[in-house]
Amino acid sequence: MGGGRGGGGYPEELRAQVDRYLESLSFSDTAATAGLEAAMRYSLLAGGKRIRPVLSLATAQALGREPASVMPFAAALELIHTYSLIHDDLPAMDDDELRRGRPTCHVAFGEDVAILAGDGLFAEALRHLLERQADPAANVLAAAIRLVSAAGVEGMVGGQYMDVTAPEDLDPAALRDLHERKTGRLIGAAIEAVLLLSGGDGPATIALQKFAAELGVLFQIVDDILDVTGDDASLGKPGGSDARHGKRTYVSVYGLERARELAEQSHSSARAALSGSGYDTETLTQITDYILTRQT
Ligand code: IPE
Ligand code: IPE
Ligand code: MG
Ligand code: MG
Ligand code: MG
Repeated sequence: MGGGRGGGGYPEELRAQVDRYLESLSFSDTAATAGLEAAMRYSLLAGGKRIRPVLSLATAQALGREPASVMPFAAALELIHTYSLIHDDLPAMDDDELRRGRPTCHVAFGEDVAILAGDGLFAEALRHLLERQADPAANVLAAAIRLVSAAGVEGMVGGQYMDVTAPEDLDPAALRDLHERKTGRLIGAAIEAVLLLSGGDGPATIALQKFAAELGVLFQIVDDILDVTGDDASLGKPGGSDARHGKRTYVSVYGLERARELAEQSHSSARAALSGSGYDTETLTQITDYILTRQT
C-alpha cells in the first residue's frame, strides 16, 4: 500500500485502511444486545481522524513491517480512544452534545447506554487485541500491558481525574503532567506498543520513544488551542468547552500566543527525535506536521 508516502499532508490511505477495518468489526452475539452494539458502532464509525491507529500503522512501516500486520492492535487502541470520548462527553464530565460531527452518544442513546457503550468498547478492545494480534504471545502481552497502562490510572483515566479536579492555580509542570497522562500516554502507546509487538523497545528505539512522548503532549496543546480558535463545524465538537467548564489548559495557563509558541517548540522536539531515530520516518513526519497544523 502507498500509505500516503511521497506526498505531503495526512496519510489518507492509512486512515481509509483503518476505517474499513473498524467497519468490519461486530460485537453483539444476540438480538438482546443489538442496541448496545448500535451505540458502540455509532460513536466508533462517526468519523474521527484515526490519529492513534494511523500512528501505529506508520510505526510498523518505519520498522519495515506491513502496516496491516498491526491492525488488530491499532483497532483496539481506537476502540479505547472512542470509549474515552463517550465518557468524556457525559453530563457528569464535560457535558458536551456534539462529537465527531454528531450528537454525542448519551444524547443519541441515553446516559445509561452511553456508559455501557464505553465500557463495552474497552473490554472488546482487549478481547480483539488478545484474540487477533498475530505476533509471538510474549510480544502481544507486552503490548497489551503498555496499552492498558496508558488507559489506566498512570495514563488516560488518571489524567481525566486530574483534569476534573485540577486546582485554579495549577502550575506549568503539573499541567504538562496532566496532558502527558490524559492524552499523551495513549498516543505514546500507539507507537511504543508497535515496538513491543516487533520484539522490543531497546536502545535502538529510544529516539522513537522520545518522539512518542512529545507527540502526545503536542497533540493536547493543539487541542487546547483549537478549543478556543476552532468552530464547531470543523472541529465536529463544541468549541469553547474548556472555558465553559473552567478547565486548566495550555491556553488558560499560558495565553494563546504562548501556547502557540509551546506547540511549535514541542513540534520541533518531536521532529528532532524522529530525524535522529535512524528509521524510515517519512509517514510519521507527515503525521507530526499534521498534528501541529490541523484545524479539526
Ligand atoms: C480528542 O481526540 C480527544 C483528545 C484526546 C484531545 P481526537 O482529536 O483524536 O478525536 P477524533 O478521534 O479525531 O474524533
Ligand atoms: C479529553 O480531553 C481527553 C480524553 C481522554 C478523552 P478533552 O476534554 O480536551 O477532549 P475534547 O476536547 O472533548 O475532545
Ligand atoms: Mg475533557
Ligand atoms: Mg471534552
Ligand atoms: Mg479539548
